[in-house]
Amino acid sequence: MPIFKTLPSLFKRPAFSALCCQILAVAAIAAFGIFNNRILIQFVHLNLSMTGVSVIGGLLAAVFGYLLGLTRWWWIAINFAFLPLVTLGTGVGISRWVFFGGFALLLALNWNSFRDRVPLYLTSDRGYEALHGFLSTLSAGDFRFIDLGCGFSGALSYLSRRFIDARFEGVETAPMVFLVSWFRSLMGKFKVRYCDIWKTDLSQYDVVYCFLSPVPMPELWIKAQREMTRGSHLVSNTFVIPGVKPDRVIELNDWRKSSIYVYKIG
Ligand SMILES: C[S@@+](CC[C@H](N)C(=O)[O-])C[C@H]1O[C@@H](n2cnc3c(N)ncnc32)[C@H](O)[C@@H]1O
Repeated sequence: MPIFKTLPSLFKRPAFSALCCQILAVAAIAAFGIFNNRILIQFVHLNLSMTGVSVIGGLLAAVFGYLLGLTRWWWIAINFAFLPLVTLGTGVGISRWVFFGGFALLLALNWNSFRDRVPLYLTSDRGYEALHGFLSTLSAGDFRFIDLGCGFSGALSYLSRRFIDARFEGVETAPMVFLVSWFRSLMGKFKVRYCDIWKTDLSQYDVVYCFLSPVPMPELWIKAQREMTRGSHLVSNTFVIPGVKPDRVIELNDWRKSSIYVYKIG
């Protein structure tokens, strides 16, 4: 029976829970070693290789993750695999700086997914074309458009070159992603700000575009209804607002069978 929901709000963030599971697993192994009057490294002398120890650690981390109510993806792919993979990497001589560098890169690219659970993936060319088609139906050409979590500004760059009277902006909070986006904006016809989606005032925009995840959609809808003006549009790539019928669905006919959902603020 998952005890996830009864824990403090920090534990509702999977990355934090997964980290705690790894710490607990390592602590359990170390405690077992000390209990046997041996420190962790002496497992080697018990004829249990470091790989064996790391697999036990991975199993423990997976069980802890399951008990904490983490989804299968987390407790199998991340919790279980982490310690064995680190041991394997160290065994074949991969420097610890490679792990550290990889970790730092992932952090700089996905900084905000710790809280919002929105990783980085990008709108496809078909998505751009669908957005272009939808924006072409708007009566005024001088609309204001914002991409909430603009990534590398692909959509902003594509659209701003095609709607020259409109104004295009994006907000982004993953540090490295923002920097790339900001540099691109210096050469483009759009603006990018380092600003949290939840601190962005949506009242000034005719079209608010987002490609996030299922997690923030209910809260985003509340924010959109509170701030956006009558007749403006919230456009979501792939993720629907639960329980709200979109005014328009544009199928992208891609391998994910995804669609763009248009919600008119009434
Ligand atoms: C799935 S990507 C979409 C990127 C881009 N909009 C596109 O369609 O190509 C979501 C982006 O939202 C950003 N993001 C997530 N939470 C955010 C927040 N609270 N404030 C600003 N940006 C956020 C992520 O860093 C990521 O770049």
